[in-house]
Amino acid sequence: MCGIFSYIGKEENAALQTLVGLQSLEYRGYDSFGITAQKNGGAEFFVRKSVGQIGKVGRAEFSGVKSSIAIGHTRWATHGNVTEANAHPHFNRTQSIAVVHNGIIENHRVLRAFVADKLKVPKEDLFVSETDTEVIPHLIEYFMTHEVKDFEDAFVATALLLEGRYAFVAMHRDLPYILAVRDGSPLVLGEGAQGYYLASDVPAFLDYTRIVNYLDDEQYVKVSRDESVIRELRTRKFVKPDRKEILWERESATKEGYAHYMLKEIMEQPSALDRAIRQDDEELLAIAHLLKTHRTFFIGCGTAAKVAKIGELWMATMAHRLATTFVGSESAPYAGFVDKKSVLLAVSQSGETADVLQAIRAAGQSGATIVSLLNVVGSTIDRESDLRLFINVGPEKAVASTKAATAQMAVLYLLIAATAGELPEAKHLLRKGVKEIKAWLTRDVVREIEGIAKRIVAEEDLFIIGRGTHAALALEAAIKIQEVSYVHAEGFPGGELKHGPIALIRKGTPCIAFIPNDETKAKMESNTTELKARGAYIIGIAPSPSDLFDEWIKVPDLGPIAPIVDIIPVQILAYALAVLRGNDPDKPRNLAKSVTVE
Ligand code: M6R
Repeated sequence: MCGIFSYIGKEENAALQTLVGLQSLEYRGYDSFGITAQKNGGAEFFVRKSVGQIGKVGRAEFSGVKSSIAIGHTRWATHGNVTEANAHPHFNRTQSIAVVHNGIIENHRVLRAFVADKLKVPKEDLFVSETDTEVIPHLIEYFMTHEVKDFEDAFVATALLLEGRYAFVAMHRDLPYILAVRDGSPLVLGEGAQGYYLASDVPAFLDYTRIVNYLDDEQYVKVSRDESVIRELRTRKFVKPDRKEILWERESATKEGYAHYMLKEIMEQPSALDRAIRQDDEELLAIAHLLKTHRTFFIGCGTAAKVAKIGELWMATMAHRLATTFVGSESAPYAGFVDKKSVLLAVSQSGETADVLQAIRAAGQSGATIVSLLNVVGSTIDRESDLRLFINVGPEKAVASTKAATAQMAVLYLLIAATAGELPEAKHLLRKGVKEIKAWLTRDVVREIEGIAKRIVAEEDLFIIGRGTHAALALEAAIKIQEVSYVHAEGFPGGELKHGPIALIRKGTPCIAFIPNDETKAKMESNTTELKARGAYIIGIAPSPSDLFDEWIKVPDLGPIAPIVDIIPVQILAYALAVLRGNDPDKPRNLAKSVTVE
């Protein structure tokens, strides 16, 4: 749940490049950071570690460091508090080995005891941090000095002892190369004319190169100024590089004049959706055939799980097939049912979500076919799936998922329509829908919703109701409001109100009602009347007006794909509330973009 960046090459500003690279990875972690560079042609380390956001660090201090090898890290704390001592890089006793790490080393307690014993130093004297990571440089030192002598051999011996999920990069003060390995956490190698880049995500080095090598689990790479060599961790066998060219536009990873990535990503949904729905018919039909002939399980976490639930409902209503949705962390009770007659369809923007990954691994072992719906090409879930579809919306940098969520819905709709034998109609409907969203989603709509946000900004509770697909959408709406505005928000099926939640409604409590022009309309109106009668302040998201609404956010009428547009006003409301309440919507407290721990 952290960001790694490192540079080695011909240029002598490695520390500065590492700072800039880490700043573009800040969405992966932003509670503390650190950079280490070899100074003066080796023999000395430059070290800068600090608590705080890497994005706020100035360049001056780094531009004076003459170095062509550096490693860096931006942290999202998992083991140990947010302190300078816990910030990476971590070092061995003699400060000759520096390590940055992303992931979790599950057996770190055992390894702490092991290495302290081997080095004959009490644990409390050996370890200066509370992190699981710090065990790595000490182990490398132990292997180098007692067992193998060579840095690369010691690095491999150490990696082979680790249990859990990790990517880490190690550098020795006196050696002209860096070593990096992955097993479960992302790590990509960029190859440019001026040098090599190792990073947790591609946009970190897109300014320098578009040629990437995605490392696989249990592979490590030795990178010097003029070559990179990838090997299998266990066998040390040479791995042929699998270079890919990144075709994203650089701008898709920057803010383009918007105050925040979240707003930029909300506003670019028409073009993101336009890209997402350009799917290959043959691929859709091949997967649709599997959904027709196998039992389907949907899985995801957070927003992706809510999208998956909408998929399940479309499967029932359009394809007349019963599917089951579960969240990644709750997959255990279903595991016995996921077998070779099953398809497990994983929805994930990042393709790195640990709970989903664990479930697909277990399902794969039971013989199930793994299909994934992803944004990040080359992600771990991508590589562990039998078949995959990509939403192709470019990097989503804000923690809150917006353009990925609507694109996931669009692609799922296409897939399920293909399962129902209605692919041509679905394509037509989506193309028309995207045009309508484009015409509707203007700055005026944002201003209108900002006005509503101002009127409810002081409220601490907000409820959302919907029926059918919009009952699942109400859950997604609640996540959006919670994560960036920190307002207590809950979503319910409209019919569930009178079974409990209505007791929470007081005079002025803001309630969002999704009232599309479909079979849920009449019942939703009566549920909204129930809320109104208890004094709720009703924000209607609907194509048609109603006397029930205190605020009406008019949306285009998109029929069965209404969830795709109806969530957008809530995304904007969440964003506007966050800004009004002084929160940073791109970096909400306690959250990270990619949740790579279980
Ligand atoms: O990368 P994924 O789609 O697998 O991520 C799943 C969730 O962590 C993610 O959707 C999370 O709930 C978002 N922050 C919600 O906006």
